[in-house]
Amino acid sequence: MTGRIIRFCDTTLRDGEQTPGVHFGAAQKYDIAMRLEQLGADIIEAGFPASSEGDFAAVRRVAESIRESTVSALARLTKSDIDAAASALEGARKRRIHVFIATSDIHLKHKLNITREDALARIREYVAYAREFFDEVQFSPEDATRSDADFLLEAVKCAAEAGANIINIPDTVGYSSPDEFSALVRRVKAVLPPETVVSVHCHNDLGMATANTIAAVTAGADQVECTVNGLGERAGNTPFEEAVMAITVRAESMGVSHNINTRELIETSRLISSLSGIRVAPNKAIVGANAFAHASGIHQHGMMCSRKTYEIMNPEDIGLTDNTIVLGKLSGRHAFAERVAKLGYSLDGVGIDAAFTRFKEIADKKSVISDDDIRAIVSEYLDSIEGRYYLSTFQIQSGNKIKAMCLVTLSDGVENGEVTEAAPGEGPIDAAFNAINRIAGADGVELISYNIQALTEGTDALGEAKVKIKEGESVFTGRGVSTDIVKSSIKAYLNAINKWERARRRRIEG
Ligand code: KIV
Ligand code: ZN
Repeated sequence: MTGRIIRFCDTTLRDGEQTPGVHFGAAQKYDIAMRLEQLGADIIEAGFPASSEGDFAAVRRVAESIRESTVSALARLTKSDIDAAASALEGARKRRIHVFIATSDIHLKHKLNITREDALARIREYVAYAREFFDEVQFSPEDATRSDADFLLEAVKCAAEAGANIINIPDTVGYSSPDEFSALVRRVKAVLPPETVVSVHCHNDLGMATANTIAAVTAGADQVECTVNGLGERAGNTPFEEAVMAITVRAESMGVSHNINTRELIETSRLISSLSGIRVAPNKAIVGANAFAHASGIHQHGMMCSRKTYEIMNPEDIGLTDNTIVLGKLSGRHAFAERVAKLGYSLDGVGIDAAFTRFKEIADKKSVISDDDIRAIVSEYLDSIEGRYYLSTFQIQSGNKIKAMCLVTLSDGVENGEVTEAAPGEGPIDAAFNAINRIAGADGVELISYNIQALTEGTDALGEAKVKIKEGESVFTGRGVSTDIVKSSIKAYLNAINKWERARRRRIEG
């Protein structure tokens, strides 16, 4: 591929983490960042350090570990946000700050309660302040596509004059269309010094994020911001895999290229799906299970004659291969640990021991353990660390003529003992959840969603249960896996209750 090189800034760890119900801890952010570096992401936006102590620590860990990609952190235009980002990124080899302020009248009036002049003054003062710490300062005028165009141009010029060398144009609410967005990018480029990097950041509310991103590239954008699997606020961001494959497949007509190792796309997508708990739809472009499947007879016949009839890219180009070696009950700890590392998880010795114990339990019931099973085992383990309660035993009584009843015993890591409670319910699972609520004192908690899905085929498939519970405005998600669907449901519920319980303890301890 030749032509202008488009830089990829991945924001899975920041905007992607704003997906409802998704939270990445420091260990998960580390694993994802390492995988993104392997993928060749030019910039990794690791988080928003001022938002919480946890995110500060996670950004710091990513900054200290990544060597090739630039590590970026988000900050509002305030002294304390910029100081937090500077401190979190201290250990980075290549670093960048991403500062933003809204420029649309809707946001200025209703969210920030400031005038346009106030916004310009903040841009002048705090972009210059950020430049004292960083050689690379990226500025975003939030809600750019609903901002008055003349004011937007004034704001980006002001940011460039104050020292921003990357100007990112976000379509914050996914409102723009390809024609409008490319015209806007041209206008922005025209008022900025030629050396300023112009970036775009699109949301997918109207399903146009990838189209808008590609339109911006053809209009001269130098950098695109994306998230793996399109994670992000509401309908998400431009999916990384879509933008990169659009540029790869249509490189000649676009006259651009990139630095991404596309063969890492599928494994990256799978890692992020397992750590976020957000499944990829089968018909999702590039990384969905059906993206390279040909079902109709006419298509299958065409494919047998020549793959070119119905395939515009090779599955191998995104890293899809058939040569997976499965593990089974005779596989040892070493082979298991090696596979876990290959899939992109960095568990310590204790983590490997715990996950290997689960692997053995499952391998006793299931002849073949696939990579999807291993991802589920490891994700469940990562989700469960730091939980107060662990499932010891449960006993269920249920039938079509009797009310379901469940007796649950949990070990309590805070009180260092076991607690048992029984409760009735509308069915065995409801009864089990009620018994757990009694143990944890979770009367005010409401179950808002529950689903269970087989991860692989066959009657011995692992069932992955997911639950969402709510108290007030706070939502907690949990997941659990087992070959027994009642057990996976109980583990998922317990996982969510542990998160709720941790938040309650933090509230009480202040
Ligand atoms: O969508 C948006 O406007 C953002 C900014 C912080 C760039 O995510
Ligand atoms: Zn965004």
